Amino acid sequence: MAVSLVITRITVEVGVSKMITVVANLKGGSGKSTVSFNLAIWLAEQGFEVQALDLDPQLTLHDVARIRKEEGHEPELNVIAQETPDFNTSIKLEMVIDVGAANQAGMREAIRNADRVIIPVPPSQPDVWATQRFLKTVREAREGVSKELEIYVFVNRADTHHAVRESDDTAAALAQLPGIKLLPQRLYQRTIYRRSMSEGLAVFELWRGSKGAEEFETFARALYQ
Ligand SMILES: Nc1ncnc2c1ncn2[C@@H]1O[C@H](COP(=O)(O)OP(=O)(O)O)[C@@H](O)[C@H]1O
Ligand SMILES: [Mg+2]
Repeated sequence: MAVSLVITRITVEVGVSKMITVVANLKGGSGKSTVSFNLAIWLAEQGFEVQALDLDPQLTLHDVARIRKEEGHEPELNVIAQETPDFNTSIKLEMVIDVGAANQAGMREAIRNADRVIIPVPPSQPDVWATQRFLKTVREAREGVSKELEIYVFVNRADTHHAVRESDDTAAALAQLPGIKLLPQRLYQRTIYRRSMSEGLAVFELWRGSKGAEEFETFARALYQ
């Protein structure tokens, strides 16, 4: 009995949690693909067996995984591009799903099956409004589902300059939204997010120890404590 308890604990520690994480929002350009990609690579580095799904017809996640493979970077990221998510084959793996408004049906199906939804929100009023509307979509998609859903919202592309107030204002507005957890960890507007993706690398692989790398590590750790 004692032995099996120990084994269970070890299993959890190496990260066999098999969660379905959906990174979504209604607006394009909010950072869904950037966050999905970096998170999937981070999870793989932590020892999770990761399956990424790209449900967005833009296929950004699919494309960056292809570049990563062509460049020979390890670990390889396995991305399945689908219109409708198929959970039967991959449910044993840690899943990260990138989906946007261009695939409403796929988005609803992904959210319906998710354990958690992560919503990146750029610092602007229209993005706060879009997030409010998106939360309605999330609630509708979960109708009749008894499994609990965690909804994490955070400010992405936050202003690095302290005098700019929009990031704080956005965080304050998001904090008022019911049923969500506002992550205090922000990802800032940094060139490294664009540059690393174009090379098929995560921010923490391109330049370890950089501000972008460290903030992403902190962010990912907050999500997968
Ligand atoms: N924190 C950030 N700092 C700088 N650029 C970012 C950041 N997050 C995303 N971007 C850039 O913004 C653009 C849109 O991001 P993307 O992840 O493709 O958004 P989405 O998938 O929501 O449409 C990309 O060029 C990406 O490199
Ligand atoms: Mg995208």
